[in-house]
Amino acid sequence: MISDGSGMARRIAVTGIKGGCGRTTVAVNLSAALALRGHKTLLVDLDPKADATSSLGVEAGPDSATVYELLLGLEENLARAVVGTAAQGLHLIPSAMKLYGAELELAGEPERAKRLLRALEKVEKGYAFVIVDCPANFGLLTLNALLACGQALVPALGSSLPSAVEGIFELIGAVNAELGECAKVVGLTPNMVDKRIAGAALAIKRLEEKYGKGLVRSRIRLDARLPEAAAAGKPIQLFAPKSNAAYDFEVLADDIMVM
Ligand SMILES: Nc1ncnc2c1ncn2[C@@H]1O[C@H](COP(=O)(O)OP(=O)(O)OP(=O)(O)O)[C@@H](O)[C@H]1O
Ligand SMILES: [Mg+2]
Repeated sequence: MISDGSGMARRIAVTGIKGGCGRTTVAVNLSAALALRGHKTLLVDLDPKADATSSLGVEAGPDSATVYELLLGLEENLARAVVGTAAQGLHLIPSAMKLYGAELELAGEPERAKRLLRALEKVEKGYAFVIVDCPANFGLLTLNALLACGQALVPALGSSLPSAVEGIFELIGAVNAELGECAKVVGLTPNMVDKRIAGAALAIKRLEEKYGKGLVRSRIRLDARLPEAAAAGKPIQLFAPKSNAAYDFEVLADDIMVM
């Protein structure tokens, strides 16, 4: 499903509470795959580590407007926070280290969990997709992403057991019950799938048994070109278009379009 043309983009938070499972890799390369097939996409880097920002070769300078200024209401001209990338049709709202302070600075502020939602409502016009890269912990930033997007895409390590992804379902359920929201996981994306690793096939089978249709078709294989692309500041589609990973992200983009 792409945007319905109402001016609202389809928003997806790439989240999950396990560190290093590939959130940033999925957010960056899915965004690029969607953009390069003509669906204008805005990627929001909501992690103070700013890995999505550096993976796209962007560095926010001291005077740049970033997602931090958007959340704190420090930038009146929101368009200043949106920058272009090497991938045509892919724009980025960068992050920076100062975002580490945002959770404390927003404590006690009214509607603090809806800051991203309010900012996106102002900048998303013209985009088909908004993809948000979340940090590993489940704090105010991830809560902002869930309330802004309503839809979560959760990378799951190809070698992990279902219990490793269970936590995010529980957390989203708790958020919905507590705040009367209806956020949901729209897809689980197996990542770093390596058939050579003993037990990998069984782990995927267990995920399939437990989550069935919740699993996307794409199995993102372990591919050294992905960290190389990130280090070079380019999405995989531009860095190594013929790689396994570039193919796997095309399949993921196909899936997202129909989900
Ligand atoms: N399919 C893959 N094949 C090879 N390397 C991968 C793959 N997916 C991710 N990686 C690498 O694994 C590392 C962790 O991935 P990534 O940064 O995307 O995870 P994350 O969940 O965003 O981590 P963090 O908790 O730090 O935010 C990175 O170096 C990334 O390049
Ligand atoms: Mg990350």
